[in-house]
Amino acid sequence: MSIQMVDLRGPYRAIQEEIDAAIQAVLDATQFIKGPAVGQFESDLAGYLGVPHVIGVGNGTDALQIAYMALGIGPGDEIITPAFTFIATAEAAALVGATPVFADIDPATFTLDPAHVEALITPRTRAIVPVHLFGQSADMDPILDLAHRHGLAVIEDNAQAIGATYRGAKTGTLGTAGCLSFFPSKNLGAFGDGGAVLTRDAALAERMRMIANHGGRHKYFNEIVGVNSRLDTLQAAVLGVKLRHLDAYNEARRAAADRYDALFADEPGVVTPVRAAYGTHVFHQYTLRIRDGRRDAVQAHLKARGIPHAIYYPVPLHRLPVFAAEGRARHGDLRETERAAAEVLSLPMHTELTADQQERIAAAVREALHGQAARPV
Ligand SMILES: Cc1ncc(COP(=O)(O)O)c(C=O)c1O
Repeated sequence: MSIQMVDLRGPYRAIQEEIDAAIQAVLDATQFIKGPAVGQFESDLAGYLGVPHVIGVGNGTDALQIAYMALGIGPGDEIITPAFTFIATAEAAALVGATPVFADIDPATFTLDPAHVEALITPRTRAIVPVHLFGQSADMDPILDLAHRHGLAVIEDNAQAIGATYRGAKTGTLGTAGCLSFFPSKNLGAFGDGGAVLTRDAALAERMRMIANHGGRHKYFNEIVGVNSRLDTLQAAVLGVKLRHLDAYNEARRAAADRYDALFADEPGVVTPVRAAYGTHVFHQYTLRIRDGRRDAVQAHLKARGIPHAIYYPVPLHRLPVFAAEGRARHGDLRETERAAAEVLSLPMHTELTADQQERIAAAVREALHGQAARPV
Protein backbone atom coordinates (compact mmCIF):
# COMPACT_ATOMS: atom_id res chain seq x y z
CA MET A 1 0.00 0.00 0.00
CA SER A 2 1.26 3.46 -0.79
CA ILE A 3 2.59 5.47 2.14
CA GLN A 4 0.48 8.46 3.17
CA MET A 5 1.52 11.51 5.19
CA VAL A 6 -1.89 11.40 6.90
CA ASP A 7 -4.53 8.67 6.60
CA LEU A 8 -8.10 9.77 7.28
CA ARG A 9 -9.77 6.83 5.55
CA GLY A 10 -8.39 4.05 7.79
CA PRO A 11 -9.71 5.42 11.09
CA TYR A 12 -13.08 6.17 9.48
CA ARG A 13 -13.44 2.64 8.08
CA ALA A 14 -12.53 1.16 11.48
CA ILE A 15 -15.50 2.85 13.21
CA GLN A 16 -17.71 3.55 10.21
CA GLU A 17 -20.87 2.11 11.75
CA GLU A 18 -20.59 4.28 14.87
CA ILE A 19 -19.85 7.42 12.86
CA ASP A 20 -22.54 6.84 10.25
CA ALA A 21 -25.13 6.25 12.97
CA ALA A 22 -24.15 9.48 14.74
CA ILE A 23 -24.39 11.45 11.48
CA GLN A 24 -27.73 9.82 10.64
CA ALA A 25 -29.08 10.84 14.06
CA VAL A 26 -28.27 14.49 13.27
CA LEU A 27 -29.87 14.17 9.84
CA ASP A 28 -32.99 12.65 11.40
CA ALA A 29 -33.24 15.42 14.02
CA THR A 30 -32.41 18.14 11.41
CA GLN A 31 -31.15 20.43 14.16
CA PHE A 32 -28.00 21.51 12.39
CA ILE A 33 -27.09 24.55 14.49
CA LYS A 34 -26.60 24.04 18.24
CA GLY A 35 -28.13 20.55 18.11
CA PRO A 36 -27.89 18.22 21.11
CA ALA A 37 -24.68 16.61 19.81
CA VAL A 38 -22.84 19.89 20.44
CA GLY A 39 -23.66 20.09 24.15
CA GLN A 40 -23.03 16.38 24.55
CA PHE A 41 -19.61 16.63 22.93
CA GLU A 42 -18.70 19.72 24.98
CA SER A 43 -19.52 17.91 28.20
CA ASP A 44 -17.77 14.67 27.11
CA LEU A 45 -14.66 16.65 26.15
CA ALA A 46 -14.76 18.58 29.44
CA GLY A 47 -14.82 15.23 31.27
CA TYR A 48 -11.96 13.86 29.18
CA LEU A 49 -9.77 16.93 29.73
CA GLY A 50 -10.73 17.48 33.36
CA VAL A 51 -11.81 21.09 32.86
CA PRO A 52 -15.22 22.54 33.79
CA HIS A 53 -15.91 24.62 30.66
CA VAL A 54 -15.58 23.63 26.99
CA ILE A 55 -17.17 25.71 24.24
CA GLY A 56 -17.28 24.38 20.70
CA VAL A 57 -16.38 26.93 18.01
CA GLY A 58 -15.93 27.01 14.25
CA ASN A 59 -12.19 26.24 14.05
CA GLY A 60 -8.93 26.59 15.97
CA THR A 61 -8.12 30.03 14.57
CA ASP A 62 -11.46 31.35 15.80
CA ALA A 63 -10.81 29.68 19.16
CA LEU A 64 -7.68 31.81 19.56
CA GLN A 65 -9.44 34.98 18.40
CA ILE A 66 -12.38 34.38 20.74
CA ALA A 67 -10.01 33.82 23.69
CA TYR A 68 -8.15 37.06 22.87
CA MET A 69 -11.43 38.98 22.51
CA ALA A 70 -12.87 37.58 25.73
CA LEU A 71 -9.75 38.67 27.62
CA GLY A 72 -10.13 42.16 26.17
CA ILE A 73 -6.89 41.97 24.18
CA GLY A 74 -6.95 44.59 21.43
CA PRO A 75 -5.19 47.51 19.77
CA GLY A 76 -2.02 48.60 21.59
CA ASP A 77 -1.69 45.27 23.41
CA GLU A 78 1.05 42.71 22.91
CA ILE A 79 1.06 38.95 23.22
CA ILE A 80 4.25 36.89 23.47
CA THR A 81 4.30 33.72 21.40
CA PRO A 82 6.82 31.59 19.48
CA ALA A 83 7.58 32.34 15.82
CA PHE A 84 7.98 28.62 15.19
CA THR A 85 4.30 27.74 14.85
CA PHE A 86 1.40 27.81 12.42
CA ILE A 87 0.36 31.33 11.39
CA ALA A 88 -2.99 31.19 13.24
CA THR A 89 -1.46 31.69 16.70
CA ALA A 90 -0.22 35.18 15.81
CA GLU A 91 -2.74 35.93 13.06
CA ALA A 92 -5.64 35.81 15.52
CA ALA A 93 -3.82 38.35 17.72
CA ALA A 94 -3.24 40.65 14.75
CA LEU A 95 -6.93 40.29 13.81
CA VAL A 96 -7.98 41.82 17.14
CA GLY A 97 -5.45 44.63 16.63
CA ALA A 98 -2.79 43.34 19.03
CA THR A 99 0.92 42.99 18.21
CA PRO A 100 2.52 39.54 18.30
CA VAL A 101 5.94 39.59 19.94
CA PHE A 102 8.00 36.54 19.04
CA ALA A 103 10.18 34.69 21.54
CA ASP A 104 12.64 31.91 20.77
CA ILE A 105 12.04 28.18 21.26
CA ASP A 106 13.66 25.51 23.37
CA PRO A 107 15.69 23.49 20.84
CA ALA A 108 14.81 20.20 22.54
CA THR A 109 11.01 20.48 22.35
CA PHE A 110 10.49 23.19 19.67
CA THR A 111 8.19 24.99 22.15
CA LEU A 112 8.34 28.47 23.70
CA ASP A 113 11.50 28.90 25.77
CA PRO A 114 10.43 30.52 29.06
CA ALA A 115 13.96 31.89 29.51
CA HIS A 116 13.42 34.11 26.45
CA VAL A 117 10.03 35.46 27.46
CA GLU A 118 10.77 37.75 30.39
CA ALA A 119 13.00 40.14 28.43
CA LEU A 120 10.14 40.71 25.96
CA ILE A 121 7.56 41.71 28.57
CA THR A 122 6.59 45.39 28.38
CA PRO A 123 3.79 47.43 30.01
CA ARG A 124 1.71 46.58 26.92
CA THR A 125 2.04 42.79 27.27
CA ARG A 126 -1.28 41.13 28.06
CA ALA A 127 -0.74 37.43 27.49
CA ILE A 128 1.79 34.68 26.93
CA VAL A 129 0.65 32.20 24.27
CA PRO A 130 2.66 28.95 24.36
CA VAL A 131 2.06 26.46 21.55
CA HIS A 132 2.17 22.74 22.37
CA LEU A 133 3.85 22.04 19.08
CA PHE A 134 3.88 18.68 17.27
CA GLY A 135 1.93 17.08 20.17
CA GLN A 136 4.16 17.99 23.10
CA SER A 137 3.54 20.45 25.92
CA ALA A 138 5.61 23.57 26.38
CA ASP A 139 7.28 23.79 29.79
CA MET A 140 4.29 25.35 31.54
CA ASP A 141 5.46 25.86 35.15
CA PRO A 142 7.98 28.62 34.39
CA ILE A 143 5.55 30.18 31.89
CA LEU A 144 2.72 30.21 34.45
CA ASP A 145 5.09 31.57 37.08
CA LEU A 146 6.20 34.43 34.80
CA ALA A 147 2.58 35.20 33.92
CA HIS A 148 1.62 35.23 37.58
CA ARG A 149 4.47 37.56 38.52
CA HIS A 150 3.63 40.02 35.73
CA GLY A 151 -0.19 39.76 35.89
CA LEU A 152 -0.52 38.23 32.39
CA ALA A 153 -3.01 35.75 30.94
CA VAL A 154 -1.76 32.44 29.52
CA ILE A 155 -3.58 31.19 26.43
CA GLU A 156 -2.47 27.72 25.42
CA ASP A 157 -2.53 26.97 21.70
CA ASN A 158 -3.33 23.28 22.09
CA ALA A 159 -4.36 22.72 18.45
CA GLN A 160 -1.71 20.02 17.97
CA ALA A 161 -1.65 18.31 21.36
CA ILE A 162 -5.08 17.12 22.49
CA GLY A 163 -4.57 14.33 25.03
CA ALA A 164 -0.97 15.29 25.83
CA THR A 165 -0.13 15.92 29.48
CA TYR A 166 2.08 18.24 31.53
CA ARG A 167 2.88 16.95 35.02
CA GLY A 168 -0.26 14.81 34.93
CA ALA A 169 -2.72 17.49 33.71
CA LYS A 170 -4.04 17.61 30.15
CA THR A 171 -2.52 20.37 28.03
CA GLY A 172 -4.88 23.26 27.37
CA THR A 173 -6.22 23.16 30.95
CA LEU A 174 -3.24 24.75 32.71
CA GLY A 175 -3.50 28.38 31.62
CA THR A 176 -6.24 31.00 31.62
CA ALA A 177 -7.74 29.49 28.45
CA GLY A 178 -6.87 26.70 26.02
CA CYS A 179 -7.63 26.50 22.30
CA LEU A 180 -8.24 23.39 20.22
CA SER A 181 -8.53 22.69 16.51
CA PHE A 182 -10.42 19.73 15.09
CA PHE A 183 -9.05 20.21 11.57
CA PRO A 184 -9.41 16.75 9.94
CA SER A 185 -5.73 15.81 10.23
CA LYS A 186 -5.48 16.72 13.93
CA ASN A 187 -5.25 13.89 16.51
CA LEU A 188 -8.97 14.43 17.13
CA GLY A 189 -10.14 15.43 13.65
CA ALA A 190 -13.61 16.34 12.43
CA PHE A 191 -14.90 15.81 8.88
CA GLY A 192 -14.47 19.52 8.25
CA ASP A 193 -13.52 22.50 10.37
CA GLY A 194 -14.06 22.63 14.12
CA GLY A 195 -12.49 23.97 17.27
CA ALA A 196 -13.04 24.64 20.97
CA VAL A 197 -12.01 26.94 23.78
CA LEU A 198 -11.60 25.69 27.32
CA THR A 199 -11.18 27.29 30.70
CA ARG A 200 -11.58 26.78 34.44
CA ASP A 201 -12.94 30.34 34.82
CA ALA A 202 -16.76 30.43 34.72
CA ALA A 203 -16.98 34.16 33.89
CA LEU A 204 -14.45 33.84 31.07
CA ALA A 205 -16.32 30.78 29.77
CA GLU A 206 -19.56 32.73 29.63
CA ARG A 207 -17.87 35.57 27.77
CA MET A 208 -16.28 33.21 25.26
CA ARG A 209 -19.63 31.47 24.69
CA MET A 210 -21.29 34.81 24.04
CA ILE A 211 -18.56 36.03 21.70
CA ALA A 212 -18.73 32.81 19.67
CA ASN A 213 -22.45 33.44 19.18
CA HIS A 214 -22.69 37.09 18.08
CA GLY A 215 -22.03 38.43 21.55
CA GLY A 216 -25.35 37.45 23.06
CA ARG A 217 -26.68 34.96 25.61
CA HIS A 218 -30.14 35.09 24.15
CA LYS A 219 -31.27 35.32 20.55
CA TYR A 220 -31.64 38.89 19.26
CA PHE A 221 -30.25 40.34 22.48
CA ASN A 222 -26.60 41.07 21.69
CA GLU A 223 -24.57 42.46 24.57
CA ILE A 224 -21.05 42.70 23.15
CA VAL A 225 -19.41 42.49 19.73
CA GLY A 226 -18.93 38.87 18.82
CA VAL A 227 -18.48 36.58 15.85
CA ASN A 228 -20.41 33.74 14.25
CA SER A 229 -18.27 30.76 15.16
CA ARG A 230 -20.18 27.72 16.34
CA LEU A 231 -19.18 24.08 16.27
CA ASP A 232 -21.33 22.49 13.58
CA THR A 233 -23.72 19.83 14.91
CA LEU A 234 -22.63 17.24 12.32
CA GLN A 235 -19.00 17.80 13.29
CA ALA A 236 -19.85 17.53 16.98
CA ALA A 237 -21.54 14.18 16.32
CA VAL A 238 -18.46 12.87 14.50
CA LEU A 239 -16.13 14.22 17.19
CA GLY A 240 -18.22 12.69 19.99
CA VAL A 241 -17.66 9.24 18.47
CA LYS A 242 -13.98 9.81 17.75
CA LEU A 243 -13.31 11.17 21.26
CA ARG A 244 -14.04 7.69 22.61
CA HIS A 245 -11.11 6.43 20.52
CA LEU A 246 -8.72 9.33 21.10
CA ASP A 247 -6.53 7.58 23.68
CA ALA A 248 -6.16 4.60 21.32
CA TYR A 249 -5.28 6.96 18.44
CA ASN A 250 -2.64 8.70 20.54
CA GLU A 251 -1.29 5.33 21.69
CA ALA A 252 -0.97 4.20 18.05
CA ARG A 253 0.92 7.41 17.24
CA ARG A 254 3.26 6.87 20.19
CA ALA A 255 3.89 3.27 19.06
CA ALA A 256 4.73 4.53 15.55
CA ALA A 257 7.08 7.12 17.10
CA ASP A 258 8.78 4.36 19.13
CA ARG A 259 9.35 2.37 15.94
CA TYR A 260 10.84 5.40 14.15
CA ASP A 261 13.08 6.09 17.18
CA ALA A 262 14.39 2.51 17.03
CA LEU A 263 14.96 2.71 13.27
CA PHE A 264 17.05 5.89 13.68
CA ALA A 265 18.74 4.86 16.94
CA ASP A 266 22.21 4.48 15.43
CA GLU A 267 21.87 7.15 12.74
CA PRO A 268 24.12 10.10 13.63
CA GLY A 269 22.78 12.26 10.79
CA VAL A 270 19.40 12.81 12.44
CA VAL A 271 18.07 13.91 15.83
CA THR A 272 14.87 12.12 16.79
CA PRO A 273 12.15 13.96 18.76
CA VAL A 274 13.01 14.62 22.40
CA ARG A 275 10.32 13.52 24.86
CA ALA A 276 10.39 15.93 27.77
CA ALA A 277 10.27 14.21 31.16
CA TYR A 278 7.48 16.56 32.33
CA GLY A 279 4.73 15.05 30.20
CA THR A 280 3.41 12.71 27.54
CA HIS A 281 3.84 13.42 23.83
CA VAL A 282 0.96 12.60 21.46
CA PHE A 283 2.99 12.89 18.25
CA HIS A 284 0.79 15.02 16.07
CA GLN A 285 3.97 15.13 14.01
CA TYR A 286 7.11 13.02 14.08
CA THR A 287 9.73 15.66 13.36
CA LEU A 288 13.42 14.95 12.84
CA ARG A 289 16.26 17.39 12.77
CA ILE A 290 18.62 16.65 9.88
CA ARG A 291 22.13 17.67 10.86
CA ASP A 292 24.94 19.33 8.93
CA GLY A 293 22.87 21.36 6.49
CA ARG A 294 21.63 18.26 4.70
CA ARG A 295 17.89 18.69 5.25
CA ASP A 296 17.13 19.97 1.77
CA ALA A 297 19.12 17.12 0.17
CA VAL A 298 17.21 14.57 2.25
CA GLN A 299 13.96 16.23 1.29
CA ALA A 300 14.86 16.09 -2.42
CA HIS A 301 15.75 12.40 -2.12
CA LEU A 302 12.45 11.55 -0.37
CA LYS A 303 10.59 13.47 -3.07
CA ALA A 304 12.37 11.52 -5.82
CA ARG A 305 11.50 8.27 -4.05
CA GLY A 306 7.83 9.24 -3.64
CA ILE A 307 8.04 9.20 0.17
CA PRO A 308 5.66 11.77 1.65
CA HIS A 309 7.19 14.27 4.08
CA ALA A 310 6.69 17.91 5.11
CA ILE A 311 8.50 20.85 6.59
CA TYR A 312 6.65 22.39 9.52
CA TYR A 313 7.55 25.25 9.36
CA PRO A 314 9.90 26.48 6.64
CA VAL A 315 9.53 30.23 7.32
CA PRO A 316 9.26 31.42 10.95
CA LEU A 317 6.40 33.85 11.48
CA HIS A 318 8.62 36.92 12.04
CA ARG A 319 9.97 36.48 8.49
CA LEU A 320 6.60 35.97 6.76
CA PRO A 321 5.57 38.99 4.67
CA VAL A 322 2.47 39.49 6.81
CA PHE A 323 4.56 40.12 9.94
CA ALA A 324 7.89 41.24 8.52
CA ALA A 325 6.41 44.65 7.70
CA GLU A 326 7.44 47.39 10.09
CA GLY A 327 5.26 47.65 13.18
CA ARG A 328 3.18 44.47 12.73
CA ALA A 329 5.31 42.39 15.05
CA ARG A 330 8.36 42.51 17.28
CA HIS A 331 10.85 39.81 18.13
CA GLY A 332 13.81 38.89 20.25
CA ASP A 333 16.86 36.95 19.15
CA LEU A 334 15.35 33.90 17.41
CA ARG A 335 18.47 31.82 16.80
CA GLU A 336 16.91 28.45 17.71
CA THR A 337 13.81 29.28 15.70
CA GLU A 338 15.94 29.94 12.60
CA ARG A 339 17.96 26.77 13.17
CA ALA A 340 14.80 24.66 13.57
CA ALA A 341 13.28 26.07 10.38
CA ALA A 342 16.43 25.03 8.51
CA GLU A 343 16.72 21.54 10.03
CA VAL A 344 13.27 20.05 10.60
CA LEU A 345 11.70 17.34 8.50
CA SER A 346 8.41 15.69 9.45
CA LEU A 347 7.80 12.10 8.40
CA PRO A 348 4.46 10.38 7.81
CA MET A 349 2.61 10.03 11.13
CA HIS A 350 -0.86 8.60 11.62
CA THR A 351 -2.69 5.73 13.26
CA GLU A 352 -2.48 3.39 10.27
CA LEU A 353 1.27 3.50 9.64
CA THR A 354 2.76 -0.01 9.44
CA ALA A 355 6.19 -1.16 10.62
CA ASP A 356 7.01 -2.15 7.03
CA GLN A 357 6.17 1.33 5.75
CA GLN A 358 8.28 2.93 8.47
CA GLU A 359 11.23 0.72 7.55
CA ARG A 360 10.94 1.92 3.95
CA ILE A 361 10.73 5.56 5.07
CA ALA A 362 13.75 5.23 7.38
CA ALA A 363 15.73 3.41 4.69
CA ALA A 364 15.07 6.28 2.27
CA VAL A 365 16.26 8.84 4.84
CA ARG A 366 19.43 6.81 5.43
CA GLU A 367 20.05 6.46 1.69
CA ALA A 368 19.81 10.22 1.36
CA LEU A 369 22.32 10.73 4.17
CA HIS A 370 24.80 8.11 3.03
CA GLY A 371 24.49 8.60 -0.73
CA GLN A 372 23.46 5.06 -1.57
CA ALA A 373 21.73 4.40 -4.87
CA ALA A 374 17.97 4.67 -4.66
CA ARG A 375 16.08 1.42 -4.86
CA PRO A 376 12.44 1.28 -5.91
CA VAL A 377 10.12 1.41 -2.91
C1 LIG B 1 -0.59 25.41 16.24
C2 LIG B 1 -1.90 25.69 15.55
N1 LIG B 1 -2.64 26.73 15.95
C3 LIG B 1 -3.82 27.01 15.37
C4 LIG B 1 -4.30 26.25 14.34
C5 LIG B 1 -5.57 26.69 13.69
O1 LIG B 1 -6.57 25.73 13.65
P1 LIG B 1 -7.67 25.73 12.48
O2 LIG B 1 -7.01 25.23 11.24
O3 LIG B 1 -8.71 24.78 13.01
O4 LIG B 1 -8.18 27.11 12.35
C6 LIG B 1 -3.58 25.14 13.90
C7 LIG B 1 -4.03 24.22 12.85
O5 LIG B 1 -4.43 24.31 11.83
C8 LIG B 1 -2.33 24.86 14.51
O6 LIG B 1 -1.57 23.84 14.10
